[in-house]
Amino acid sequence: MSINLNYYHVASDVPSNDSDIAVVIDVLRATTTISWALTNGADSIEVFADLDLLKDKAMNWEPSKRLMLAERGGKKINGFDLGNSPLSVKKDVVLGKRLFMSTTNGTKALQKVEDIKYLFSMALTNRKAVAERIISLNKNNILILGSGWEGSYSLEDSLAAGALASYLVENCQSEVNIVNDELNAAIALWHYWKGDILGCLKTATHGKRLTRIGDYEDDFKCCSQLDCLDVVPKQFERGVIRAS
Ligand code: MLT
Repeated sequence: MSINLNYYHVASDVPSNDSDIAVVIDVLRATTTISWALTNGADSIEVFADLDLLKDKAMNWEPSKRLMLAERGGKKINGFDLGNSPLSVKKDVVLGKRLFMSTTNGTKALQKVEDIKYLFSMALTNRKAVAERIISLNKNNILILGSGWEGSYSLEDSLAAGALASYLVENCQSEVNIVNDELNAAIALWHYWKGDILGCLKTATHGKRLTRIGDYEDDFKCCSQLDCLDVVPKQFERGVIRAS
C-alpha cells in the first residue's frame, strides 16, 4: 500500500479524477476560521460561492441557530453577522449554530471537490489532526487543493500543503509518493519558511492585502499557529462540514 499525493494551487487546475481524499486549504483565512468555529462548538458550516443562495438557505433555518458569514476582498460584507476572521467565531457566538459561509476563494475551493468521498478542510492550526486522519484511512490517492486568490497561486496555502506532505512523509508507515512538482515545490517552501510561519503569511500577497486594509495582526498570529487544534473538519453532506 502506498499513498499518492498531488497538490493543485487553485480549483481550476484540478483534473477530473478519482481521488479518495481531498484536503482543501485556505490558511488566510477560511479554513483557519472553520477549524476554530468547529473547535468552539459550531454545529456545522455550510459553504456557498453565491451570496444570494446563502441568504435563501439561511432564511429557512431557525434564526437563533444560524449565523451568516461573508467576506469579499478580505472585508466583511455589510448585512452579514460576521466576516471571515478566526477570532470572531468565539464559543459564545457560534455554539450550537449552523454557520452559512461564503468567502472570496476558500468556499469555492471546497465546492470544487465536494464530490470526493472524504473531503477535509485544513489549515496550519489542524495540520497534524488532518494528517493523522489521512494515515488512519489508509487510502491511495490524496488530492490537496489550495484556494489561491481569484484563480492564482498563493504562498500561504502552498506552505500548508508542504507542511501536510512533510508530516505524511515523516510519519506514515506506507510509502508516500509526491506525484507532482507543485507538491515538490510546496515541500521546499515549507522547509524554507517553517521557522518563520508568521513571516511567510505576512510576505504573501494576501497577507499584504490584509495589512493594507486593516489591523489583522491577531489574525496573522492565529493563522500561523501550527498543530494547535485537534479538530478534523469533514464534509458530511454536500457543502456541509462538521467536526469529526
Ligand atoms: C478567501 O476565501 O479568499 C479568504 O479566506 C480571504 C480572507 O478572508 O482573508
